[in-house]
Amino acid sequence: MSLPSIISQHLERIGAQSHVRGLGLDDSLQPRDRDGLYGQYAARRAAGIIVRMSQDGGKAGRGVLIVGPPGSGKTAIAMGMAQTLGPDTPFTSMSGSEFYSHEMNKTEALTQALRRSIGVEFHEETEVIEGQVVDIQANKTEDGGDVIGTLVLKTTEMETEYDMESKMLEALSKEKVSVGDVITIDKASGKVTRVGTSFGAGREFDAHGPQTRFVPCPEGELQKRKEVVHTVTLHEIDVINSRSQGFMALFAGDTGEIRPEVRDQINVKIAQWIEEKKAKLVPGVLFIDEVHMLDIECFAFLNRALESRLAPVVVMATNRGISTIRGTSHVSAHGIPSDLLDRILIVRTKKPSKDEVKEILKIRASEEDVEFDFDEESEESPALDYLADISEVTSLRYCIQLITLSSLVAQRRHSAVVEEQDIKKVYDLFLDVDRSSEMMSRDFLFHAEEKDEDDE
Ligand SMILES: Nc1ncnc2c1ncn2[C@@H]1O[C@H](COP(=O)(O)OP(=O)(O)OP(=O)(O)O)[C@@H](O)[C@H]1O
Ligand SMILES: [Mg+2]
Repeated sequence: MSLPSIISQHLERIGAQSHVRGLGLDDSLQPRDRDGLYGQYAARRAAGIIVRMSQDGGKAGRGVLIVGPPGSGKTAIAMGMAQTLGPDTPFTSMSGSEFYSHEMNKTEALTQALRRSIGVEFHEETEVIEGQVVDIQANKTEDGGDVIGTLVLKTTEMETEYDMESKMLEALSKEKVSVGDVITIDKASGKVTRVGTSFGAGREFDAHGPQTRFVPCPEGELQKRKEVVHTVTLHEIDVINSRSQGFMALFAGDTGEIRPEVRDQINVKIAQWIEEKKAKLVPGVLFIDEVHMLDIECFAFLNRALESRLAPVVVMATNRGISTIRGTSHVSAHGIPSDLLDRILIVRTKKPSKDEVKEILKIRASEEDVEFDFDEESEESPALDYLADISEVTSLRYCIQLITLSSLVAQRRHSAVVEEQDIKKVYDLFLDVDRSSEMMSRDFLFHAEEKDEDDE
């Protein structure tokens, strides 16, 4: 993993969307207030339908645009989609501005993003040993050298003792395998997988956590052929096959440009595999946030890419109304050319009401382990109410930032809960945009000249 991705993962733990755990939909795609999301039912339902569409496979190449005012949860909903798709469906998240860099031209960057969002599923048969662990013994050899041991596995029909080397013992202890577990061992790679705890063994031990998965003791032979599924993205296949890069480039994160001939060959090969039923396409989702940052060339490219058979579902988001299409002097809805707008579905998020803001602030406070005060009589939190009032004249985002800050102030006066006074204090200390610009026009002498409307 490259350093930037470690850093971004770390930051995401406390990041703006870290409380979002899914779309909060039930099986019939009805939105509920859970998974860290509150309200915005129409947009979340639509997002759920798109996730279904992509999971059902085949129906690739659709475009969806989420429009709505700043801070209304567009990015949050897209992150919820990513969580709902699960680990085997590729999801790529980019911001419009990320397509511009010195190392790569923008259509290459777009192509890579599109191909990162399509998976190819390979089915492979391997030889495995699968059984319930009856006994594990580790013995030191006499000269104090390598540890060796024995492993006894059984199925409902047979029981066999295997000799193990230290490498296998290590793999077993890494997987925390103990007597009574059902495991599989890949014969080629020696990889050990813990399937679960056998029902039969479960009764003998009481100390099972809620996470314990109970499985039946395997039947038949210990050695069997098992089908395993690997999913890799088209982009990964591109990189591995482009001779100038080599697969190490995947770890460095810097993959450079990939020659079109390489991609053409790969596309042909994959079509062939699909025909022969050796592989299956898994269309994922590409999310492009702040899509108005793309320019006319990118839009034209995207328009054409959506027509291709190898296209993921593209979800875009913007908070722009009528604005100029980048790279032109034309004005269009959301700054997106009308021919592209015409072929995508549009869903909207609405500015949250005060009550909705309160609920979102509550979710955020619990995510950040911050507790607000509570008034027994009104059964409300005065601090939370005050913060929601502030959001009416500032923004939800600004208020979310005040949560942590006010809890620091509360801590300083040794209070475990945040009260109105703490929020007042940070509201006075940290300006929101409106108060900051008001101060500019009052206290600063020099300003950049106001631009003409048509300059924009
Ligand atoms: N309905 C919601 N449920 C839970 N959290 C929300 C909801 N709406 C917004 N938030 C949270 O509020 C903050 C701002 O929302 P978000 O970043 O999703 O807004 P946005 O619509 O993408 O805004 P922008 O147009 O400025 O990009 C985030 O921390 C987000 O998780
Ligand atoms: Mg956003």
